[in-house]
Amino acid sequence: MLPFQLITTSVATQQGLRQVYMSEHGILYQGDCLKLLSALPDESVDIVFADPPFNLGKEYGEGVSDHMEIDKYLAWSQLWLCESIRVLKPGGSLFIFNLPKWCIDYGAYLNKQGMWFRHWIACRMPKAFPRGKKMSPAHYGLLYYTKGEPAVFNKVYTPIQVCRHCGGEVRDYGGHRKKLNEKGINLMDVWDEPEDVWEDAAEASINEVLWTLTEEVWTDIPPVRHRQHKKRVPNELAPIMLERIIAMASNPGQIVVDPFGGAGTTFYAAEKLHRYWIGSEIGNIDPAVERLSQLANGITEQWESARGNKKLKPQKKTGSQLSLPYLTQ
Ligand SMILES: C[S@@+](CC[C@H](N)C(=O)[O-])C[C@H]1O[C@@H](n2cnc3c(N)ncnc32)[C@H](O)[C@@H]1O
Repeated sequence: MLPFQLITTSVATQQGLRQVYMSEHGILYQGDCLKLLSALPDESVDIVFADPPFNLGKEYGEGVSDHMEIDKYLAWSQLWLCESIRVLKPGGSLFIFNLPKWCIDYGAYLNKQGMWFRHWIACRMPKAFPRGKKMSPAHYGLLYYTKGEPAVFNKVYTPIQVCRHCGGEVRDYGGHRKKLNEKGINLMDVWDEPEDVWEDAAEASINEVLWTLTEEVWTDIPPVRHRQHKKRVPNELAPIMLERIIAMASNPGQIVVDPFGGAGTTFYAAEKLHRYWIGSEIGNIDPAVERLSQLANGITEQWESARGNKKLKPQKKTGSQLSLPYLTQ
């Protein structure tokens, strides 16, 4: 049995889960996430990532309510949070993406359950409008908890923020610019061999896009709004966000669960990063299945890596061949 086949067909059928897609790395079920989670054994998975409906009255299709009484929404959330904790291995990671308003309650609940708070990652949300007597909302919360001491924490590096008009660095690093870490400036992207991308900080030009250890504020996650990129009418996340989460908190061969699969962004990222995955989606599963089938046929999404230019170590020139110092992803 492959590690992701934690649920036997008979248990899935008993629970009313319908298997709609399977690859070498994962299985997608159509059905209620509580059924999926309750079918999983205790301490069996490495990451749970949850992007539940935000209770904003959005239309997710038949049988999905996104307009509950506050108490009901929180009580329902506690059910899947409690199950998520149960299925996580010791040291496993729980990520929950939601409005700050709900993240506060989630955090209080998780603290009481003995989960370890790691970070509240603020994902910048451009172009949101204020409602009533409020400031303009500018971020979503991404809660990051672990079940005790984290088992895996890979350092992930992201580009230093630059001005989209002039290309200049937004922050003044002063004399520290060349000392962002002991090896110099790390240009490592999460799926590269480190030796390909380290370079001597002293040689870095002021015009390069530099990379540094990921911070708690993510400003480079694009909203998925354009028809060209959207897989479905309801909302979905950009793959770059899931790639970063999965790369940070797991290693290849480990298991990622997403109870609210939507358009399958988590499964897509897990496939690309060679993690096993299990997921459920109660609504329309066609967009996720189509996307995963395309990936299986070698079709990847070109827009997803809003990471700027990635600098590779210049290769040695041979004859008239010139090196290619920048590679745009
Ligand atoms: C915010 S969306 C998730 C989007 C997803 N992260 C993506 O990138 O495509 C929430 C999803 O949860 C699904 N959903 C709502 N209630 C559910 C339940 N009880 N079990 C499984 N899925 C559910 C909705 O149909 C919706 O597609």
